Amino acid sequence: SFFFPPFKAYLIYSSSVAAGAQNGIEECKYQFAWDRWNCPERALQLSTHSSLRSANRETAFVHAISSAGVMYTLTRNCSLGDFDNCGCDDTRNGQRGGHGWLWGGCSDNVGFGEAISKQFVDALETGQDARAAMNLHNNEAGRKAVKGTMQRTCKCHGVSGSCTTQTCWLQLPEFREVGNYLKDKYQRALKVDLLKGAGNSAASRGAISETFNAISRKELVHLEDSPDYCLENRTLGLPGMEGRECVRKGKNLTKWEKRSCRRLCGDCGLAVEERRAELVSSCNCKFHWCCAVKCEQCRKTVTKYFCVRKGVAAAAVQVQRARGNESPASRRKNLRMRKKH
Ligand SMILES: *[C@@H]1O[C@H](CO)[C@@H](O)[C@H](O)[C@H]1NC(C)=O
Ligand SMILES: *[C@@H]1O[C@H](CO)[C@@H](O)[C@H](O)[C@H]1NC(C)=O
Ligand SMILES: *[C@@H]1O[C@H](CO)[C@@H](O)[C@H](O)[C@H]1NC(C)=O
Repeated sequence: SFFFPPFKAYLIYSSSVAAGAQNGIEECKYQFAWDRWNCPERALQLSTHSSLRSANRETAFVHAISSAGVMYTLTRNCSLGDFDNCGCDDTRNGQRGGHGWLWGGCSDNVGFGEAISKQFVDALETGQDARAAMNLHNNEAGRKAVKGTMQRTCKCHGVSGSCTTQTCWLQLPEFREVGNYLKDKYQRALKVDLLKGAGNSAASRGAISETFNAISRKELVHLEDSPDYCLENRTLGLPGMEGRECVRKGKNLTKWEKRSCRRLCGDCGLAVEERRAELVSSCNCKFHWCCAVKCEQCRKTVTKYFCVRKGVAAAAVQVQRARGNESPASRRKNLRMRKKH
């Protein structure tokens, strides 16, 4: 349960809101680490300068994950007792929940997180145009994602764990779950065609709200297509894929990660360049009496992959050919030497 404090008291939430927004940003960076668009900082300013605001699929994700992050952190703060005016959601405790279980325990108070997050995040949208409606819809989708991924946790009661009755409560998942869920929604985001001839007349405002009301509030919505992230575009502040790192080998890579070099480089008409670097780090540290720690220096070669322009990669290969029949080992060594210069 919770009550709404007077407006000034909202200051008590501002650190939590900031931490939540940061949480959202970090999750965005994680989810898009191996996508062409990788959640760059400039995309994250939920700008209200409408002329520069994009309204594509990525914008939709940024709004959803930010409002989800804010709601999530507020809710968690509440459960941890960080706020005087809010605690567990026990409104249903004692009621039957389903077959053989009762509500009980401490459910995370998402109602609180939802309400406060709405006050903060939705307040950034001041316009009444299609872009504002899109952002509000995606903010809401983010909050729905937090609610929709909550997990029921139960405890058994009865003689020595016989579980004749159970009490259950709802708790927040790891925020990663919310991120995964929203990434999936991002892949299936819906495009609505509202930008053409969208004025500020009552008629067009009516058309906007009608359109958005017809779409489930769980779905992400966008108005524009994404730009071609392969290409550098300074006007749009896009760096392009040249120079981007991708991953190829590794013990624990997902299919999506393993295909990152093709997605980021190959499909953008770029070649993949392998670069080796030697890492020196402290290892085999021993404690000596008293009181010193002595370590050895260990060397490890790491291989990294980067997207490069095709001509550049071809030139590198030609230089190698010109050097004649090198053994693979010495070729690697030479490559390393060349990289140093
Ligand atoms: C809420 O939690 C976040 C991190 O989980 C923390 O940084 C912040 O200070 C907390 N807010 C309050 C008011 O305790
Ligand atoms: C950059 O993007 C804008 C808007 O999509 C487009 O009009 C322009 O042609 C692009 N510039 C380049 C160099 O691709
Ligand atoms: C990574 O490896 C660990 C075990 O080492 C495994 O539990 C986990 O599911 C793996 N993660 C992925 C994404 O494959």
